[in-house]
Amino acid sequence: MTALQDVLHPAGIQASHIASLWGFTVAICAVVFVAILAALFYALGRAPRADAATAPDMASMDRPESGTRRIVVAAVTLSIVGLLVLLGASIATDRALATLPLENAVHIEMVGHQWWWEVNYDDPQPSRIFSTANEMHIPVGRPVLVTLKAGDVIHSFWVPNLHGKKDLIPGRTNTIQLRADKAGIYRGQCAEFCGLQHAFMAFTVVAEDDAKFQQWADAQRKPAVEPTDAKARRGHDLFMSGTCMMCHQIQGTTANARMAPDLTHIASRPTLAAGTLPNDPQSMAAWIRDPQKLKPGAQMPAHHVPDDELDALVAYLETLK
Ligand code: CUA
Repeated sequence: MTALQDVLHPAGIQASHIASLWGFTVAICAVVFVAILAALFYALGRAPRADAATAPDMASMDRPESGTRRIVVAAVTLSIVGLLVLLGASIATDRALATLPLENAVHIEMVGHQWWWEVNYDDPQPSRIFSTANEMHIPVGRPVLVTLKAGDVIHSFWVPNLHGKKDLIPGRTNTIQLRADKAGIYRGQCAEFCGLQHAFMAFTVVAEDDAKFQQWADAQRKPAVEPTDAKARRGHDLFMSGTCMMCHQIQGTTANARMAPDLTHIASRPTLAAGTLPNDPQSMAAWIRDPQKLKPGAQMPAHHVPDDELDALVAYLETLK
């Protein structure tokens, strides 16, 4: 599954506004560029021909050029008008972005961490609140109000197909409003340098129809399934008795820590480590064994567990669909 990350193919109304402003700016700048080149070639064309033998004509410095004043005034006026038009278009775009109707909006809180995204789905009913990581599902056609917070340093939320950038700042709460109008899988990326693994701080946005979205959300709200086979059962016990549960949460178990991504439904996610690895058993094993090799500087320490224990842990995590 390749997720799209492309500012020029907007999949939502906010990104469309920005793409239109971009198109309009490029058109105006293209006209200016062509006009300047035309003026340059006109000037080159009317300059007197000369070769190496021609004596320098110093008298031309003193000859007044006709119409210079008019041309300069016209050029300055046109430049000012062009800039004012761009300013007007920019203000109009800003207003359009700020006035997205928010009735029936989905409320999501994104918390930026070094280097992953905590995604909390809010609900008036506390029992319907749930958390996931590095993945956001949204219903097509419904507005989404994303609250942005930072857990450590400044990050920036950016899903080019859906909207522009907005910073996540420690001690401050920002919001961004967006709406996907086309179903699809879009890539989000931290857009503010936030440390060593800034580039590996991605997330996936799945825009789908409302029924599918509700289905996904209902599945995410459920606590983790109890493992049934012996190997996964052993992995569960290792997880709960080892260091894993000191940072991670798995709903429905004794693991309640919120330092690191919630793993209640880890097996249902497309990637591991915020877009760094595909989510498959091999990557999962490699990640648990030595995260520092795959993502140097990440907060998760290496776990030098024996092969059979690693197998059991992976078997358990793979049941968390
Ligand atoms: Cu977070 Cu860059």
